Amino acid sequence: MKIIKNLNSLQEQCFAWRNQGLKVGLVPTMGFFHDGHQALMRQARGLCDKLVVSLFLNPTQFGENEDLDKYPHDFDGDCSKAEAQGVDVLFAPAPQSMYHENHATWIDVPALGSNLCGASRQGHFRGVCTVVTKLFMLTQPEIAVFGQKDWQQLAIIRRMVRDLNIPVEIIGHEIVREPDGLAMSSRNAYLTKDERDVAPAIRQGLLKVISKVRDGERNAALIKHFLQEEYAATLPTGKVDYIEAVDPADIEPVETISSSTLVAVAIRLGKARLIDNILIEV
Ligand code: PAJ
Repeated sequence: MKIIKNLNSLQEQCFAWRNQGLKVGLVPTMGFFHDGHQALMRQARGLCDKLVVSLFLNPTQFGENEDLDKYPHDFDGDCSKAEAQGVDVLFAPAPQSMYHENHATWIDVPALGSNLCGASRQGHFRGVCTVVTKLFMLTQPEIAVFGQKDWQQLAIIRRMVRDLNIPVEIIGHEIVREPDGLAMSSRNAYLTKDERDVAPAIRQGLLKVISKVRDGERNAALIKHFLQEEYAATLPTGKVDYIEAVDPADIEPVETISSSTLVAVAIRLGKARLIDNILIEV
């Protein structure tokens, strides 16, 4: 596996591969790899000839009071994990090299980015869209894999790629979970033992929603209220950031659970803000 830090070198390498008729795949990440990241790499590995994984803690998607400075990292561990998945290039640019001092161009999809995580993290998706577009321009991949844990992010990137005619196929990977159901996340490292013990309740609440819907409940407000009460009981130290039922493509809130509805939640538990979601198909 080659580690590339320089933007021009990455672009040259990917151009050379494309000129040889090789199919380039990309998995963008911010590092501190867990099995979720590695599953994305595995899927991408099977779909392309040359796999690039980017490892870049993108400052423009973090708000002022967020965890940019504290975000967990383990570069050596990440290198071994990426290598074990057959990654060809780990692109790990220096923080200063990705953005010019007077960077002035932004990509934003406000129609899909203003609620859920976009409401509590102002400017977050603008930072995500901009860095992902830059990564697409640097690697020109034919496929790119993103996780459904960040469903809103995936929906926004799909829309951006469609609207801007970016020639890349976006692939969504299902949520990878710990054996007890907690969605894997680099931020799980912030949990204390007690918090980690109760955290699976996030997923359990979502599974109870599925049962409610199976029993005939279709009123989104009642479902949200049910989940609110559920978390108040099972996660007394948690703070609900949002509980929402939305259309999975438009991320618009719905009043009635219909054929395909996404129930998405964000919960603050100690120092961690954890997200999870479930797609309800009736
Ligand atoms: P990061 O949080 O490192 O996640 C990288 C990719 O892994 C994203 O596509 C995310 O959805 C996926 N992922 C994380 N946990 C997952 C899990 N438990 N199951 C399945 N997929 C999971 O998301 C970002 O980085 C950044 O916003 C990025 C897209 C790299 C732009 O900076």
